[in-house]
Amino acid sequence: MRAWICDNPTGTDAITWKEIPTPEPGEGEVLVSIKAASLNFLDFLIIQNKYQIKPQLPFVPGAEFAGVVEAVGKKVISLKAGDLVAGFTGTGAFGTHVVAPAERLGHLIPDFSFEDAAAFPCTYGTSYHALIDRAAVKAGETVLVMGASGGVGSAAVQVAKAAGATVIAAASSDDKCAVCRQIGADFTINYTSANIRNELKTLTSGNGPDIIFDPVGGELTEAVFRSLAWKGRYLVIGFAQGKIPSLPLNLALLKDASIMGVFWGEFSKREPQSDGDNFKKLTALYKAGKIKPLIEHKLPMQELQKAFALITARQVRGKIVLVND
Ligand SMILES: NC(=O)c1ccc[n+]([C@@H]2O[C@H](COP(=O)([O-])OP(=O)(O)OC[C@H]3O[C@@H](n4cnc5c(N)ncnc54)[C@H](OP(=O)(O)O)[C@@H]3O)[C@@H](O)[C@H]2O)c1
Repeated sequence: MRAWICDNPTGTDAITWKEIPTPEPGEGEVLVSIKAASLNFLDFLIIQNKYQIKPQLPFVPGAEFAGVVEAVGKKVISLKAGDLVAGFTGTGAFGTHVVAPAERLGHLIPDFSFEDAAAFPCTYGTSYHALIDRAAVKAGETVLVMGASGGVGSAAVQVAKAAGATVIAAASSDDKCAVCRQIGADFTINYTSANIRNELKTLTSGNGPDIIFDPVGGELTEAVFRSLAWKGRYLVIGFAQGKIPSLPLNLALLKDASIMGVFWGEFSKREPQSDGDNFKKLTALYKAGKIKPLIEHKLPMQELQKAFALITARQVRGKIVLVND
C-alpha cells in the first residue's frame, strides 16, 4: 500500500508519500481499501503537533474516509469483505488502505457516493451535536454561523436550516457569502467588509442571534458574543483563525447567556449510542435532500500537499476530497 507518512510533525513540507507494508487487521479490526478521504482542519493541526491529540510517530494523517472492506479480523461480525463503509478514525485516511476498528465504521447506504460519505462524519456529526444536542435549537430561532462556507460551517448552515432556524451565514468574501446562500442561508454578512455588529442588529431587528456557531475564533469572537440575544447560546467549535479568544464573563451574565464547548470526536467515543442515533437522523436528512456536503475540490490522493495549500490560503468553499483511482 501507499500512504502519506508524518514522522516529523513540523508541517505540510515534512510529510512524504511512501510505499509501506499493508497491515493485517487484528481482533475487532477491518482492512479497508480507501476510495475517498476528506480534509479537515484537524489534519492540518495534527501534522504540526498543534492538535489536542498527538499520535505516536510515525503516523498516517487523515481523519475520515470511505471505501470497501478487503479483510476482517477475528470477532468482527458486523462487516465482511466487499462491504462499503465510511468512518472517522482521527488518523490513517490519507493512503490507499487503512486498518480501523470495526466499531468506528458504518455501512454506506446505497445513495451515498464515496466522496459524499468521506466528507460527512466530522462536519455533520459536529454540527448536529452542537446545534441539536448542545444548543437545542428550536424552529424560528436565529443562528449565526461564522466561517460559514468552510467544512464544518457549511454543514452547520444546512443542519440549522433543516431544524427550521433562520440562518445568518458570515464569511470573509462576497464569493463565499454567495455559496452560503446557495446552500440555504437566509442572510449573509461579509465580515471583511461589513461591521458585523451593525449588520446583526439590522438583520435581527435589534434582538441579536439566539445561537452563534463559531469555528473561527479570533478577534471577532467578542464582537459577535456582544450581539447575542437574551438567553443566547455561543457554541465553541474551533479556532481556524489561529487565536484562541478570551471573553469578559460579565457579557454572559448580562444576557443570561451560555458558552457551550463542543468536542464531537470525544462525544462520539464516550456516547456512541447517542452519536449513532444522530447519524440515523443525519442519514434521513441526506436521503431527503436537506443536507449534502459542499465539495469544491476533488484531487488525487497524491496531491495532499496541494490540498493543504488551498486550505491555508483560505481558498476552499466546503470540503476537499482526495480520491484513489
Ligand atoms: N469542536 C469540534 O468537535 C470540531 C469538529 C470539527 C472541526 N472543528 C474545528 O472547526 C474549525 C474549522 O474546521 P473545518 O474543518 O471546517 O475547516 P475549514 O473547512 O478550513 O474552514 C475554516 C474556515 O475558517 C475561516 N478562517 C478564518 N481564518 C482562517 C485561517 N487563518 N486559515 C484557514 N481558515 C480560516 C475560513 O473562512 P473565511 O475565509 O470565510 O473566514 C474557513 O472557511 C477548526 O478549528 C477545527 O479544528 C471542531
